Amino acid sequence: MAEAFNDIVLPVDKRARYAAVAEEIASVLEGEANLTARMATVASMLAASFDDYFWTGFYVVDPDKPGELVVGPYQGTLGCLRIAFGRGVCGAAAATRRTQIVEDVESFPGHIACDSRSRSEIVVPVIDGSGRLIAVFDVDSERPAAFDGLDAEWLERILKQVFG
Ligand code: SME
Repeated sequence: MAEAFNDIVLPVDKRARYAAVAEEIASVLEGEANLTARMATVASMLAASFDDYFWTGFYVVDPDKPGELVVGPYQGTLGCLRIAFGRGVCGAAAATRRTQIVEDVESFPGHIACDSRSRSEIVVPVIDGSGRLIAVFDVDSERPAAFDGLDAEWLERILKQVFG
């Protein structure tokens, strides 16, 4: 019988841990095309794998309101529902289609504080197979400067693997 994901012992090293989770995500999602199921699984599995992931989830491009993100599947405390492109860290990632790493949220102009415990943040754009921006993936930490280039590299890789 296959071992349940929740029972897997994850490596301590961050790179090795991302590699292990990426493999598990691919295996769990094999054959599942539904976008909500895919987003919910990515958010759940990543949030469960890293202590620094305090808020973990997607803001999806609203097809009915161009230029606006609406909250999607997430793990964590209540997130704000809507974010305009260009506003806050998520809006910056959506507008520029570039990953944003914020070591201190208080120093980011226009940062949207959904939970005052958040100290640092990473937001990665989610691009589909035809090059369309479909969402951004946002992770907040209670620890300052919790995210670096390694998180960006692996999150970009995982999101491309799942949604690209
Ligand atoms: N801090 C984000 C808003 C989303 S929440 O943190 C869940 C931002 O500035 O875009």
